[in-house]
Amino acid sequence: MEDRLQGLLTEARSLIGEATSLDEIETLRVNILGRKGTLTALLKGLADLPPEQKPVLGKLANQIKEQILAVLEDARRVLGEAEQQRRTVEGAVDVTLPGRRLPAGGTHPITRVTDDVCAIFKRLGFSVAQGPEIELDYYNFEALNIPKDHPARQMQDTFYVSDDVVLRTHTSPVQVRVMEKQQPPVKVVVPGRVYRCDSDLTHTPMFDQIEGLLVDKAVTFADLKGVLVAFLHAFFGSSAGVRFRPSYFPFTEPSAEVDIECVMCKGKGCRVCGQTGWLEILGCGMVDPAVYKFVNYDPEEFTGFAFGMGVERLAMLRYGIDDLRLFFANDLRFLRQF
Ligand code: DAH
Repeated sequence: MEDRLQGLLTEARSLIGEATSLDEIETLRVNILGRKGTLTALLKGLADLPPEQKPVLGKLANQIKEQILAVLEDARRVLGEAEQQRRTVEGAVDVTLPGRRLPAGGTHPITRVTDDVCAIFKRLGFSVAQGPEIELDYYNFEALNIPKDHPARQMQDTFYVSDDVVLRTHTSPVQVRVMEKQQPPVKVVVPGRVYRCDSDLTHTPMFDQIEGLLVDKAVTFADLKGVLVAFLHAFFGSSAGVRFRPSYFPFTEPSAEVDIECVMCKGKGCRVCGQTGWLEILGCGMVDPAVYKFVNYDPEEFTGFAFGMGVERLAMLRYGIDDLRLFFANDLRFLRQF
């Protein structure tokens, strides 16, 4: 038995030494140590030996098994390195070949307009803030002075996640989140996606807004007008006419809507502006003191203004696009133009 074990070790060593690939090593491993391997067969034979020989031979068999494993491991490492070496040489990079041009990606028009608008406000001293798209009813409505029974809730077709969680219907809730975290002066713009249960030629269930909020001491409606006119002139060109119309929002008082002279017909009246010569661009107003109550601002000490606008609308006007769905269809022929 001892001789057979030693013989097996010698034979295994020489076979492994001759192997030239990792595959061959694996085959040898299976032939020797596998379930039907030669060493495995010998080990099974141990059971039939007289009891006094078992411990000695059992120990030897195990040592031999360990040695074969070590030899296999060595061979595997050496051959592995050689194989690696061979692959490196065969696949060597010819650095003199011309490079392959990567297909250039582009910025989506919505992203582009968002970036441009934020850049204009940054020049005016605003910073950019963000908030969650899955929002508490509290921030989306309650703290914006829109209580549960308020008719303004029907103005917005809300996706409810649960009784008190919604997909935000506008970026205005971020106003509250920002004010909760810091005392005035506050000067932020908030780009983001919003959701409404609404879908037709001019509405999509998801669209993009940019919100603005400025709160400080002695802020007046004149500041609101100054900032928004400066923005609209920077975005649409300094010759565009701008007008403010009285409006209503629960979280601003007084409130206004802002129109610019139609970019298509320059105010003469056309299909895009419905023959009025004007295009509605954003909603705005002085922050209602009722909102300050929710964030512990003193309405005697601070005043401010807020505004909100739709990015798709800005993009349609800037690029002369007449179909909202083009922004979401991901047709590369359309997107490559930007
Ligand atoms: N949140 C409004 C909407 O989605 C837009 C808006 C109007 C935002 C007036 C404002 C604002 O901040 O002052 O329709």
